[in-house]
Amino acid sequence: MDELLSKQNIEYRDRAREVAEKYVRPQAAELDRSGEYGWEILEALKKYELTGIWIPKEYGGHGAGVMDLCLVVEQLSRACGGIGVAYAVNALGSFPIILGGTEEQKKKYLPAIAAGEKLIAFGLSEKPSGSDAGSLRTTALRDGEHYIINGEKKWNTNGAVASTYVVYALTDPSKGMRGISAILVDRDTPGFTVGKREDTMGIRTVPVNELEFVDCRVPAENLLGGTEGGGFKNAMMTLDRARPGVAAQGLGVAQGAFEWAYRYASERKQFGQTVSSFQANSFLFADMATQIEAARQLVYSSARLIDSGAKNISKLAAMGKVFATDTAMRVATDAVQMFGGYGFCRDYPIEKYMRDAKITQIYEGTNQVQRVVIGRALTREMKSISDWLDVHIEHFPES
Ligand code: CAA
Repeated sequence: MDELLSKQNIEYRDRAREVAEKYVRPQAAELDRSGEYGWEILEALKKYELTGIWIPKEYGGHGAGVMDLCLVVEQLSRACGGIGVAYAVNALGSFPIILGGTEEQKKKYLPAIAAGEKLIAFGLSEKPSGSDAGSLRTTALRDGEHYIINGEKKWNTNGAVASTYVVYALTDPSKGMRGISAILVDRDTPGFTVGKREDTMGIRTVPVNELEFVDCRVPAENLLGGTEGGGFKNAMMTLDRARPGVAAQGLGVAQGAFEWAYRYASERKQFGQTVSSFQANSFLFADMATQIEAARQLVYSSARLIDSGAKNISKLAAMGKVFATDTAMRVATDAVQMFGGYGFCRDYPIEKYMRDAKITQIYEGTNQVQRVVIGRALTREMKSISDWLDVHIEHFPES
């Protein structure tokens, strides 16, 4: 559907597609087995000028939108969901700085991320606070010209490979979530350690780590935006803008799984005919393709809404995340089924898609949290519609 994309959109998509086919696909299975980070792929992304495209031009990026980010993530994820998130998580990590950093912080941190020279991670979740992000316990208490951070972070995608960490912590524990601030922590800060790496089901090329802070002294100038207390809002605004990236990861995984399944079912013969030619299977493929296209349009709409500068973006971003990632799981599961017993074996490419799909329904806000966000937005929106309908209720006396 190139007709619906701009020239710039198509350029980014096609460049990402080339990286995916030339560099990602040949390495995806091996990176999944070894758990190594895709350093060669990062070099290819640099060569194709695709790193940090979402970062404003004045800080070394391209000033491209969330739509372009989604197109790149979709193409990378079509070949490997792990590489898709390894790329997208740098947007999750840099949005807090773009949205809330001081001029000095933007100048200091964003150019190296834009160039792909440094990677960044986003530290919000903790062992006791996942979906209930506002209940986090890590503290960052002011001590003269420093903050002293103590606590632990969980589920840090890019954890072991990042150079910079956006860490959400309580600068005023008495204020609860209103006392949360974001602090930029450099990898080599004394008192900070990258902890245990999770042994994950999918996206195995990207390290997901715990982060540990023991009396970690960070210069006060690393307080994001220079003022305390805006951390929770900054995290929520960041997630609104990053969730289309996860949705695009789901979309790419769904598309990639569909393509492998279609190819297999078109060649495999049983009962004297190709598996794809059974009507039950052709209907299944029709449903998969329809769901993928519906997901694509919702993800692209949410990305375009964000790029338009609109204020109320949470609902559509959450809808795109839910729909695209639920689609990824459904399509990848059906794609494995289409391969029969072979789908269950690592000798074939398809089972990895199912493993990579699962996390997209969980991270950057579980799909249950997305439904909370959508439900709350509906409560606000539907009030005015209900008031309007009340005017007309007299035409239906029994209602
Ligand atoms: N934009 C701006 N402000 C927002 C906001 C938004 N989208 N959502 C909430 N806020 C503000 C509210 O206005 C409110 O501010 P006031 O008190 O000034 O009115 C404040 O934040 C608190 O809002 P809520 O009462 O709605 O907060 P809540 O405790 O009910 O939580 C939630 C809402 C949506 C469930 C939120 O906690 C949430 O998104 N949880 C999921 C967290 C998440 O996505 N974690 C993933 C981390 S990243 C990851 O997965 C790892 C990785 O590396 C990939």
